Amino acid sequence: MLANTVIPLASLLITPYDPHILSVNPCLSDSYYGTYGTQSVFVADNACIDSSTNSLTQGIVAPFSAVQQLIWLQHQAVEEAIKPVSFVDELDALLSELSHPEYVTADEQRVLSNQRNEMQLLSRTASSALISVDSETARTIDTRLPRFWKSSPLPSSPVPFIPVPSDAVKRVRQLLSTVKFDPVVASVVNNISIPQLRRDIRYLTGEDPASSIVSRHSFSDGALVAAAWLKEHFEATGASCTLKEFLNGFAPNVVCSYKGTVNTTETVLLSAHYDSRGSFGSTRAPGGNDDGSGTTALLGIARTIARKGITFRKNVQLCAFAGEEQGLYGSRYYAKELREKDANLTLMIQADMLGYHAAGEPPQLGLPDRIGTPEVTQLVANLSAIYSPELKVGFTPACCSDHQSFHEQGFPATQVFERAGRIADPMYHNSGDLSEREGYDFEQIKSIAKVQFAALLHAAGFDLLE
Ligand SMILES: *[C@@H]1O[C@H](CO)[C@@H](O)[C@H](O)[C@H]1NC(C)=O
Ligand SMILES: *[C@@H]1O[C@H](CO)[C@@H](O)[C@H](O)[C@H]1NC(C)=O
Ligand SMILES: *[C@@H]1O[C@H](CO)[C@@H](O)[C@H](O)[C@H]1NC(C)=O
Ligand SMILES: *[C@@H]1O[C@H](CO)[C@@H](O)[C@H](O)[C@H]1NC(C)=O
Ligand SMILES: [Zn+2]
Repeated sequence: MLANTVIPLASLLITPYDPHILSVNPCLSDSYYGTYGTQSVFVADNACIDSSTNSLTQGIVAPFSAVQQLIWLQHQAVEEAIKPVSFVDELDALLSELSHPEYVTADEQRVLSNQRNEMQLLSRTASSALISVDSETARTIDTRLPRFWKSSPLPSSPVPFIPVPSDAVKRVRQLLSTVKFDPVVASVVNNISIPQLRRDIRYLTGEDPASSIVSRHSFSDGALVAAAWLKEHFEATGASCTLKEFLNGFAPNVVCSYKGTVNTTETVLLSAHYDSRGSFGSTRAPGGNDDGSGTTALLGIARTIARKGITFRKNVQLCAFAGEEQGLYGSRYYAKELREKDANLTLMIQADMLGYHAAGEPPQLGLPDRIGTPEVTQLVANLSAIYSPELKVGFTPACCSDHQSFHEQGFPATQVFERAGRIADPMYHNSGDLSEREGYDFEQIKSIAKVQFAALLHAAGFDLLE
């Protein structure tokens, strides 16, 4: 809808995500605004809402009118141990601050134009809120969010709910049924080099004195340096890379491709996000774990592809996204483009935060408990048992990284994460998120990267030129 348009008699329905939601009432399919955290959002006329709520067991209905850009704010699933009790974890301070439009941070000045309007609060629970703000505030809201809150922009009009087509699921099931130990795959994935992972992450965080990177925040100069550096190093492994701009002011996505040796449109995609977020008010955002770890794992896989002389049968893409911290902007743009092209994605796996586990805990692999394709998640779990048996595998409620963008477009997708449980990294969204610190485990990064790599080799098929 247009900004500031009043939709008469419309209501907002917020109800727990359920892949079968649209079978509750077909009128909802024209009213779907996406799924955020654990909840799906609909804006529909009151007749549709009334007839739907009869068959729903949970949900919130609120009046809806006169919106600008809608933003979903979600408190992340974090361990109690790292939650401060102070006001910095409170949303109220931000909400009241947003009513003072003259406040502008240095980072924002780069992308801000001028006009700012009052914020509207449409719905609020202890762990989520739906607000409406002007578009400039929307884009830069991560720079003022309390640390454990994440933001997601809602589309400006309803979006189709696109399930993964059954033949795409069948193809993943086929891959799952043919998983078995392959000594060649084992020797290839074991070749990921930890010293190289360490060198790469130190460049991306700026811990390496030769690196000029202070921040990889999507609006920072460091993100542009990182994008160019990633492109150069992925290309050195034989990939063709493009820096794909998606929104003014944001650093680009880095999209790298290896063409398959077989004539097919099928493509297997691995990804991470290279943008980062620092402490409130700080310009330093090293993002050593979030998500320098996933980005470095991706590069470690690429370097091994080159070292081992691997060619893939199907097409392969390795993508480092930007704009994740502002609400999956980069990946949403790219997944939408792939859907519009009718891309033939076999599966995709996003790596976000691979480096940390609490002291005394074994190395782990966390898989999404909700957003993602269960068959892809199972494939990853089964490959982990074979190639990285040292990992304790379990589900995580930490949600949702760039795989959600692909999930929304009906592509088979999942995520790999560092912990079978909530976020426990004390440096999460903190300017102290460096690679050289207690709890940051390069062995675990390698173990999880091996699983992502094994999934790629298994799903794409490969030959060794060595
Ligand atoms: C995946 O692994 C589980 C646990 O070992 C096993 O029960 C299941 O059969 C495997 N799935 C497939 C399709 O091989
Ligand atoms: C990876 O393989 C190369 C040869 O292909 C070998 O020189 C190197 O030592 C191996 N590295 C690791 C970490 O296994
Ligand atoms: C690849 O396959 C497509 C569709 O099957 C066909 O039109 C095209 O000619 C093939 N290209 C080559 C190089 O074989
Ligand atoms: C995807 O690739 C498979 C295998 O080549 C093919 O059967 C299928 O038609 C393709 N689908 C699309 C949408 O291109
Ligand atoms: Zn992240």
